[in-house]
Amino acid sequence: MNQINVLFVCLGNICRSPMAEGIFKNVVEREGLAHHFNIDSAGTSTYHIGENPDIRAIETCGKKGVILRHKGKEFKATDLQQQHYILAMDKSNFANISRVFPDVPFPAKVLLMRDFDEEFKGKDVPDPYYGGMDGFSDVFEMLERSSYELLSYIRREHSI
Ligand code: 4NP
Repeated sequence: MNQINVLFVCLGNICRSPMAEGIFKNVVEREGLAHHFNIDSAGTSTYHIGENPDIRAIETCGKKGVILRHKGKEFKATDLQQQHYILAMDKSNFANISRVFPDVPFPAKVLLMRDFDEEFKGKDVPDPYYGGMDGFSDVFEMLERSSYELLSYIRREHSI
């Protein structure tokens, strides 16, 4: 069976996108669908390559039973060919993805994560890096809501 490749993208790949990766994996596992998916995350910057997620992201997710296992990596042009769904955390990440590789023909669908957050379509997942723990909790909630909707969307597209 061909797997569905899903990549979450933010700037640093230590806060929002590793949280999204962990939360979406958790939702997919709870639905018994893990065997259908490859789920990963990346950043559009090189700031934190090889690093663990931010401790505040690890703690916020850990309290909800979501274990983050990821090392920071940079978003690459090849991701546009290899991924089926690329979820940008905010409009700036979305623009970076499109701007860095404007000439690469690609099959991946590049989407904005909060377009799956029913009452907040078009909004960004705000960068919590320079704020406190509250920001991370808020990010968790919006990512969890969006993850359920994203999974429903993918299930409809793939009839799974
Ligand atoms: P992220 O947050 O994009 O959600 O991982 C950030 C992490 C680090 C930096 C910016 C945003 N930074 O400038 O180092």
